[in-house]
Amino acid sequence: MEILRSVAELRQWSRQARSKGETVGIVPTMGALHAGHASLMRAARGACGAVAVSIFVNPTQFGPNEDYARYPRTFEADCALAQAEGAAVVFAPSVEELYPAGAATFVEVAGLGDRLDGASRPGHFRGVATVVAKLLIASEADKAFFGQKDAAQVAVLRRMVADLCLPVELVVCPIVREADGLALSSRNRYLSPEERAQALVLSVAVRRVEALVAAGERSAPSLIAAAQQSFAAEPGVRVDYIELVDWATLEPVETAASGILFAVAAWVGATRLIDNAILG
Ligand code: PAJ
Repeated sequence: MEILRSVAELRQWSRQARSKGETVGIVPTMGALHAGHASLMRAARGACGAVAVSIFVNPTQFGPNEDYARYPRTFEADCALAQAEGAAVVFAPSVEELYPAGAATFVEVAGLGDRLDGASRPGHFRGVATVVAKLLIASEADKAFFGQKDAAQVAVLRRMVADLCLPVELVVCPIVREADGLALSSRNRYLSPEERAQALVLSVAVRRVEALVAAGERSAPSLIAAAQQSFAAEPGVRVDYIELVDWATLEPVETAASGILFAVAAWVGATRLIDNAILG
């Protein structure tokens, strides 16, 4: 497995793979890789002959008081995982490579980019859309793999790909969870043992809402109230949002139906975690 640092090298690798008749896949990540990322790589390997994993902690998607500086960086272990999962290359550019001096072009997905995480993290989805656009353009990938874990991110990126006519298929993979239900996240490593126990409330709330929907409850206010009750049992956790939205537009809905996104975000100590379910 090769480690590529420049856009030119990534593009050359991709074109070579395509000229050999291979489908090119990319798995964009910020590193600190875990089994959730590995599941994306496995899906990519299943669908594509040539897979690139990008590892880039993207400064533009972090707010001024967020965890950019202390975001976990575990490059060697990340490369070992990518290699074990069959990636052909890891693309690990410098900040200057992706944001050359004077960079002034950003991708803003109006409306969608200001909802859910975009509401509590202003500018976050502008940074995500910008870097993912760069990665898709640089890699010329046929397919790009993302986790449903970041469901609002998926909605923003689907809109962007459609609006910019990018010739790529987005593939969305299921949420990988710990045995007790906690969704895997690079930020879980910030949690103290006590916070790790408290963090379980996110998946408890999500499962409660799924169970209520399965039992026939359809009212958004009732479902949100039930989730709020779950959180009330864990006073150490501060809710950021609890929402039932259309997965394409991220607009709130009044009624739960198939394909509707139920999403939560909450602060566990200084760590912000998210979880969700696409209702069946
Ligand atoms: P990062 O948080 O590293 O996540 C990379 C990809 O892994 C995302 O598509 C995310 O949804 C997926 N992922 C994370 N946890 C997962 C889990 N438990 N199960 C399944 N998939 C999971 O998301 C980003 O990076 C960045 O915003 C990025 C898209 C790379 C742009 O910088």
